[in-house]
Amino acid sequence: MAAAPTDAPPASHGEDRLDAQNKSLLRFITCGSVDDGKSTLIGRLLYDAKLILDDQVATLESDSRRHGTAGEDIDFALLVDGLEAEREQGITIDVAYRSFTTERRRFIVADTPGHEEYTRNMATGASTADLAVVLVDARKGILQQTRRHSYIASLIGIRHILLAVNKIDLVGYDRAVFDRHVADFMAFARDLGFSTIQPIPLSARHGDNVTRRSDKTGWYAGPSLIEHLETVPVEEVALDRPFRLPVQYVIRPNLDFRGFAGQVASGSVAVGDTVVVAKSGQSSKVREIVTHDGPLDRAVEGQAVTLVLEDQLDVSRGNMLVAPAGRPSVADQFQAHVIWFDHQPLLPGRSYILRTETDSVEATVTALKYSVDITSFSHIAAKALQMNEVGVCNVSTRAPIAFDPYGENRSTGNFILIDRTTNRTAGAGMIDYALRRADNIHWQAVEVDRAARAALMGHRPAVIWLTGLSGSGKSTVANRLESLLHSLGYHTYLLDGDNIRHGLNRDLGFTDEDRVENIRRVAEVARLMADAGLIVIVSFISPFRSERQLAREMMAKGEFFEVFIDTPIEECARRDPKGLYRKAMSGEIKNFTGISSPYEPPENPELHLRTLGTDPNDLAMRIEEMLATRMNGETARDRDV
Ligand code: ADX
Repeated sequence: MAAAPTDAPPASHGEDRLDAQNKSLLRFITCGSVDDGKSTLIGRLLYDAKLILDDQVATLESDSRRHGTAGEDIDFALLVDGLEAEREQGITIDVAYRSFTTERRRFIVADTPGHEEYTRNMATGASTADLAVVLVDARKGILQQTRRHSYIASLIGIRHILLAVNKIDLVGYDRAVFDRHVADFMAFARDLGFSTIQPIPLSARHGDNVTRRSDKTGWYAGPSLIEHLETVPVEEVALDRPFRLPVQYVIRPNLDFRGFAGQVASGSVAVGDTVVVAKSGQSSKVREIVTHDGPLDRAVEGQAVTLVLEDQLDVSRGNMLVAPAGRPSVADQFQAHVIWFDHQPLLPGRSYILRTETDSVEATVTALKYSVDITSFSHIAAKALQMNEVGVCNVSTRAPIAFDPYGENRSTGNFILIDRTTNRTAGAGMIDYALRRADNIHWQAVEVDRAARAALMGHRPAVIWLTGLSGSGKSTVANRLESLLHSLGYHTYLLDGDNIRHGLNRDLGFTDEDRVENIRRVAEVARLMADAGLIVIVSFISPFRSERQLAREMMAKGEFFEVFIDTPIEECARRDPKGLYRKAMSGEIKNFTGISSPYEPPENPELHLRTLGTDPNDLAMRIEEMLATRMNGETARDRDV
């Protein structure tokens, strides 16, 4: 998945598929929780395959005797957990990649620690994996999380499943138990489109069927875990796919050299080939292919290269150089599957940062079509996506991005969504296809522009955004402010929450989703009105930072003024002009701001007005002064006298 550079797995395909000894590479992940024996399994694998160093073995043996939970035996979980603890003290990264080699193959296993954050780690760390080891505790069988992990594995394009029925010793090596779990798994995984599913009964603790076949499971004729990992066929890199180079950096050490650097996401390119800039359609020929190890005639999928072109083209980070014959979609609206893993739900209408592997752009989910029920894979109507849910939605970006459908290209078809206020990676997405309507709706050029309108008005437009609790005095101040501005000759309009909720937003209530949509709409209206040349006063609780930030970014620079009408909630409740606090406290009204729904105060408002003991007229005057100072460097009254 697109992610911070520290998350990036080692270079994936291409030449890398075969190493110096001609060993192929298998990337895999393990799904399951610590209780299922994940750490023990990896530890056992590394130990039995003699992949850990001798001094580590000595430490492990003595640690196991002292702290282990496995009696006289070696506790393999200590090995992996020890490595994990070490890692936690260092730089925190979500996913660690451990690499090891056997006689027959080289392996990279993405270790995705953590219980609850599992979905996040899986979605951000596993998108290059070929195979998933799905761990099941033989005593428990197929659980909800087994289904979730398998479903996510299929969504992110993993083609091979190794169903490890672990702790088979604890059910007496009973074939019937194994068969039952396998049948359960097959029944639901049938529709997930995996190419191979290999079930293996094993005991990580005792080593049965991990590196050697066990004589305790005489009824089982299949391979051991390591045998299967060594022999499962992995897809060859298809070099006939269209060439894609997502541009990571533009390198420009001097005026004569300009190179576009990145990792070839698919296909290949040779010196002399024509390439097209995805977003602009301009084209040129490849003059040189530069790498760390010297120039190349030809570069293929997986290689990190810098392309130098014959012509000076405008290409910046996030754009793509592509083959002329097979071009990616360039669109600002598309449908995608989204895996959500943040505590804060995904809300349609909320603004997020969408990041592809090289591009970054503001985005909103315009429609959440449905979420997917993990048990039946049926579609459920949803207004928000909760943590660990998967949904299908339409996404709209502020500017067009270049991409391929995820099914065609895992690296150019994925993105992550970042929460703007916390900066957390909140979701991962797989693009299905560009929406047609994006192709058919264009911006219409208009002749009378905002500057012309403003000139006629005689003043610059502005949006004065009042935010604060219900009963804080927003409407009163907004009213006084509008009267004042009006008397000073400004063209104004007041958008008030209660009023707009009678008309334009009468379909909206007070859930988080509805409030996000409420503010999105009023921000759009305010923008149109500012465009028309008005001074717009917006008086809405607007409790979320995220949406106020969105409103700010929608307006022209220097024309948005956030004013915090700051009244302590006790005072608002005491005033209780509409009797709503009383009802909210008795539970008669749900989701009431400040009582049963959050209010996030502004961190950096243009003006912070504490209302206690003040006169609304004075507050209105302070806003007018700020406005005049900021816009003209003088107050309107100065100008009028
Ligand atoms: S916002 O949170 O979505 O910005 P908005 O400003 O439009 O709210 O509307 C708030 C007004 O709706 C309040 O002044 C109050 O009169 C009324 N109201 C009714 N129910 C609620 C509620 N649950 N929470 C807040 N305000 C409510």
